[in-house]
Amino acid sequence: MNLLSALSIVCGLMLHVCFSAFNAHYCVPRNTIPYQNGMKLFREDGIFNYSAMLIRDDLGVLLLGAREAIYALDINNISVKKAVVYWRVTEEKQRECTYKGKHAEVECRNYIRTLHSVNDTTLYVCGTNAFSPTCDYMTFANGQLTLKGKPEEGKGKCPFDPFQRYSSLMVGNDLYSATSINFLGSEPVILRSSNLALRTEFKSSWLSEPNFVYMDFVRESFGSPDGDDDKVYLFFSENAMEYDFYSKVAVSRVARVCKGDMGGQRTLQRKWTSFLKARLDCSFPEPSLPPIVQDVFLLKHKDWRKSVFYAVFTPQSSLPQVSAVCAYSVSAIRDIFDEGRFKTPVAVETSHVKWVMYTGEVPVPRPGACINDVARKMGMNRSLDLPDKTLQFIRDRPLMDEAVHPQMGAPLLVKRGALLTRIVVDSVLALDGQTYDVMFVGTENGYIQKAVNYGGEMFIIEEIQVYENAEPISILRLSSRQGQLYAGSEFGAIQMPLSNCSRYKTCVDCILSRDPYCCWDPSSAQCSSVYNLSPSSKTAIQSLKEGDVSQCPQLDPVVAIDLALVPGNNIQLLCQPHSNLAQAHWRFSNQSLHPSNKYYIYDGGLLILNASESDTGVYSCDSIEQINSRTHNRTVGVYHLHLHSEPEVVVYPTPRPTVTKTFIHTLRTAAPEPGSGSGSEDPLSPESHSTSSRVSRLEVAVALLSLLCFSLMGVILWIWIRGHLKCFKFLQSSKDREGRRESADYMHIQNRTSEIKLLGPELGRPCSANNNHSAVDFKGNGEHRFPPMANISSLDGLGYIHDESEI
Ligand SMILES: *[C@@H]1O[C@H](CO)[C@@H](O)[C@H](O)[C@H]1NC(C)=O
Ligand SMILES: *[C@@H]1O[C@H](CO)[C@@H](O)[C@H](O)[C@H]1NC(C)=O
Ligand SMILES: *[C@@H]1O[C@H](CO)[C@@H](O)[C@H](O)[C@H]1NC(C)=O
Ligand SMILES: *[C@@H]1O[C@H](CO)[C@@H](O)[C@H](O)[C@H]1NC(C)=O
Ligand SMILES: *[C@@H]1O[C@H](CO)[C@@H](O)[C@H](O)[C@H]1NC(C)=O
Repeated sequence: MNLLSALSIVCGLMLHVCFSAFNAHYCVPRNTIPYQNGMKLFREDGIFNYSAMLIRDDLGVLLLGAREAIYALDINNISVKKAVVYWRVTEEKQRECTYKGKHAEVECRNYIRTLHSVNDTTLYVCGTNAFSPTCDYMTFANGQLTLKGKPEEGKGKCPFDPFQRYSSLMVGNDLYSATSINFLGSEPVILRSSNLALRTEFKSSWLSEPNFVYMDFVRESFGSPDGDDDKVYLFFSENAMEYDFYSKVAVSRVARVCKGDMGGQRTLQRKWTSFLKARLDCSFPEPSLPPIVQDVFLLKHKDWRKSVFYAVFTPQSSLPQVSAVCAYSVSAIRDIFDEGRFKTPVAVETSHVKWVMYTGEVPVPRPGACINDVARKMGMNRSLDLPDKTLQFIRDRPLMDEAVHPQMGAPLLVKRGALLTRIVVDSVLALDGQTYDVMFVGTENGYIQKAVNYGGEMFIIEEIQVYENAEPISILRLSSRQGQLYAGSEFGAIQMPLSNCSRYKTCVDCILSRDPYCCWDPSSAQCSSVYNLSPSSKTAIQSLKEGDVSQCPQLDPVVAIDLALVPGNNIQLLCQPHSNLAQAHWRFSNQSLHPSNKYYIYDGGLLILNASESDTGVYSCDSIEQINSRTHNRTVGVYHLHLHSEPEVVVYPTPRPTVTKTFIHTLRTAAPEPGSGSGSEDPLSPESHSTSSRVSRLEVAVALLSLLCFSLMGVILWIWIRGHLKCFKFLQSSKDREGRRESADYMHIQNRTSEIKLLGPELGRPCSANNNHSAVDFKGNGEHRFPPMANISSLDGLGYIHDESEI
């Protein structure tokens, strides 16, 4: 343990706390869609690890590889199994594997990791086969999946270890793979299996304990003015060689090789002559070690120069639960490789090597370049013709000096909470004639985040829970043609539409969703998919960047609910803001209500404590959402409280005085110091209303650390000013809500004397998997909980606090 990492941990901790206070930076999904039972799901008893997928639109199937099984599923409904073939390890293989010290039931099985199309009818499949990787051809014909039964050596094409990340790609008849070629997993290689097989040099300057993530092909020869070749790009992380750290630090990389590479004649024989790599930069809002690339998706454009790699990053240390998406244009990466400077190793004193920028002369043809017109003019038509000088240079210096920077210089998305795992991106043509790139990002707790970056503004349209249990999403595939997304996890595969506009019932909901797939069609009075618009519906409305609802018809006013008030009782009025980004604002007889020892305002509603006759009247709850500079205000609940005259079913006994006392005491300690008296506060100020009591409690915690934090404020401010993150509009409350949801836990508020847990009536929010009813918890000297309030629908429901005999 060295000073540096200790320091970074301390810094990280403090920044973490400070940022929790600042906290306006992180994206919060506007909507949370809980798991629905109708989800199209595929799983088979006894089969696990559904982590290889291949979409075959032409055959109408999704090929799914799992542990010891391969399925052909109906692409329209993956619950429909069209064919299956099992590929089990033999007893002998399993025994051998166990002798070598591997776990029989976990590691010594055949995990299908590779599925590639060879031609219309033939597929190539590889499995780990009890630490003895094996490949085979497979056909799908006449509704049958058949393995050819002529197993091939899979070493270097598929990992030995089922837990090891790897990547592979079929280009024509050539299989490109990046994995380890030995049992121990210690010999990494980037391999091309073809008539002329090529691989990487076994040198730590080429690959140092890499974790391969993704590979794709870019047809750069197309329209190339300098006769350039096609390229294969590879993304991975590995031990850094460029940093002077005492301990190992990982970095993210992009590397590439040329398709036409044939290796060198004497130097680099049967090795890549075009292997170049560069560091990938994606700066997190909090200072940290370099983030680690977890998955990449290439959004292809007709003009390859405009193609973009989208990459998901997570922190290297487990400390900050933050992930980011950064995008890199193919041309930016290409520029670094084609024109950038190289790094070179220099020996410093005690056999220690430092990598610095190379400033000497670079040989011609340029090291690492594909064979292009420059080389051809020099009489070099193949990499075999390249001079030793060029080859020796690249053999010793595969690393570029400069890092590849993301588009716009900053992440497109930064999200706190459950880490992001996998990404796919779809390009949508919206009604304004522009195309928007919609990211679908899987998380480690079974959600898909659907996000867009509107000119610098990060926006998560919605998060959709696709697995009932919090399972990490281990693979994501997208079919734009089908308009479907497919995901796999340990326990099953699911399918979900890229959009479900019918979820938005009103014009205002439809527009405010700011979903580029959806628009309001006044002719049918429906929120429709932009792809299904009839040509006559020229009047369809969409307002993606602004969320402008002025063209929508007026909403019907909310019907007031009559309630009886029993003096001395606590009364709860429920109010569900219309989105996670909206805040509730309460009014009583048209006066703003503020938290006090009479009113307790929380996410899900309002508590009137120890109600008396003076509390009768009209209460209304407005849901307020800020979209850029626009404020959208909507009344979502109106209650009419009148004095109770006759006994009713909903009336509960008056709470014993002690309850009320504890209650009020707890609340008073939580009440905000400033602002609670002023009647004309900006409802959008993060200090006000429902948030303020929480905020103030946060403040207590923050205050304690503020001294420590103070020294770091400069850093934070600097990051802020950098204007990196345009997510400012997400208000504190939504952030808080998010944090609570994401931790799959309720809010923990510490204030020395008492701790309150609030469970809003947020049906089905992630935290509410087992708590999807409203309740208020008190945790003082023990844990007490109010039982569920009246089980009425979240929007217009209401309930009274029960007498809690435990208190
Ligand atoms: C999908 O297939 C399953 C199994 O056959 C069936 O139960 C389900 O209704 C189908 N879903 C749809 C939407 O067609
Ligand atoms: C597809 O590829 C396989 C394996 O290379 C080959 O045997 C088969 O003839 C090919 N089929 C067609 C239709 O090209
Ligand atoms: C496969 O799934 C099983 C069951 O959940 C799990 O124990 C195992 O770790 C998984 N293996 C891999 C390689 O993901
Ligand atoms: C390279 O190709 C050109 C045209 O295809 C040919 O004229 C030339 O002889 C070739 N040179 C070598 C060294 O093979
Ligand atoms: C779309 O949303 C509606 C309304 O919530 C729901 O009933 C329907 O099942 C959803 N469709 C799909 C395919 O998820």
